Amino acid sequence: MNSNSLKLINIGNLLTYNSKKNFMVSERGLEIIVIDGKIIEIGKNLNNADQIYDCENNLVTPGFVDCHTHPVFFNDRSNEFEMRVAGNTYEQIAANGGGINNSVNSLRDSDYNELKQRVIRRMNDFLKFGTTTLEAKSGYGLDLESELKSLAILDEVNSEQIIDIIPTFMGAHAVPKEYNDKPDDYVDHLCKVIIPAVAKQGIAKYNDVFCEKGYFDIHQSEKIFLTGLDYGLLPRIHTDEFENIGGAELASAMKCVSADHLMCVNDSDIMKMVDANVKAVLLPGTTFFLGQHKYAPYKKLKDSGLEVAIATDYNPGSCNIQSMTFIITLSLIYMGFDINDAIFSSTYMPSKILNIHETTGSIEEGKNADIIVWDLKKPIDIPYNFSKNSIKTVIKSGKILF
Ligand code: NIG
Ligand code: FE
Repeated sequence: MNSNSLKLINIGNLLTYNSKKNFMVSERGLEIIVIDGKIIEIGKNLNNADQIYDCENNLVTPGFVDCHTHPVFFNDRSNEFEMRVAGNTYEQIAANGGGINNSVNSLRDSDYNELKQRVIRRMNDFLKFGTTTLEAKSGYGLDLESELKSLAILDEVNSEQIIDIIPTFMGAHAVPKEYNDKPDDYVDHLCKVIIPAVAKQGIAKYNDVFCEKGYFDIHQSEKIFLTGLDYGLLPRIHTDEFENIGGAELASAMKCVSADHLMCVNDSDIMKMVDANVKAVLLPGTTFFLGQHKYAPYKKLKDSGLEVAIATDYNPGSCNIQSMTFIITLSLIYMGFDINDAIFSSTYMPSKILNIHETTGSIEEGKNADIIVWDLKKPIDIPYNFSKNSIKTVIKSGKILF
């Protein structure tokens, strides 16, 4: 057989979305043949291959697809974490020169190659946690040079490393300090200079805006989205995290690919999102890491007919979490997910949001062989054992990474 063939045997339980059946399926006793990085056959008593991997009757799932991360930063912000646990709020810290602008200072000063090495290390950590594909945002540069630098690093890491990265431009992450008293001038600069240059660079696929009190209001956000659309950048939005300023309604009017956070979304906004087919991305790690208690209303969103993904929101300030296993655990404990829905929302659904679901996000014939072999038997064991390292092996594009 082909020299790149791999056969997975003794799969105890294969849990994946099945696009023919249109739901999650869980099957026992299957084998998988992978050739040249693709899943060629799933079944029983399959032909032999050059390399055999024995799953030892364990659980097998697709690799995680994390559709919302901010991994391009230089220094961590553990000092701010210490201030928060001592009683300061995230908003107070940001108002006193910390927060996103703190990360902007260190990224702007950083050496390109050193920053790139840090991003690579973070990508290796994502792989260890079973994340084989992720969306990654710029947004700690907030000037032309540093935003282009952040996106260029994502592009290089994507082509040089095995993990798949889908880059998003997030120049509207915060108003940089040099525009402190004139946020509209920054929005102008974004629209006239930075967005056209980002489009010309040709790396970013999405244009994400932090539409929240103290960041970008509805009018500024709309202007940034419309300019992005003119340049072929699809809109995504961070909104309703701390307060409802109408961001979910704007997401519906702009037909955003997704609206993310949504802790404060209201009923009429939910109906507008359903009508406009805006998908929801819920980020319970942020609520948890900020020590807050109001999680997004998953059941209401789902019962209204919205399609829902979960993601880490990994960033140095509000959510220093890279593990999708932990996000799944939070989704079950605090948002009312069941385990099958949580796996769906962290594999196939995020692929659909990123429009890569033809190749990624499920274990099906013809798809990329992005696979987690767990040291566990049942799906519910994933969140139950979240504090242990329960991943036995990660396979990315058919390659056994560990
Ligand atoms: O929403 N998710 C995007 N931005 C974060 C803040 C990122 C940071 O603090 O660096 C947020 O909380
Ligand atoms: Fe975010």
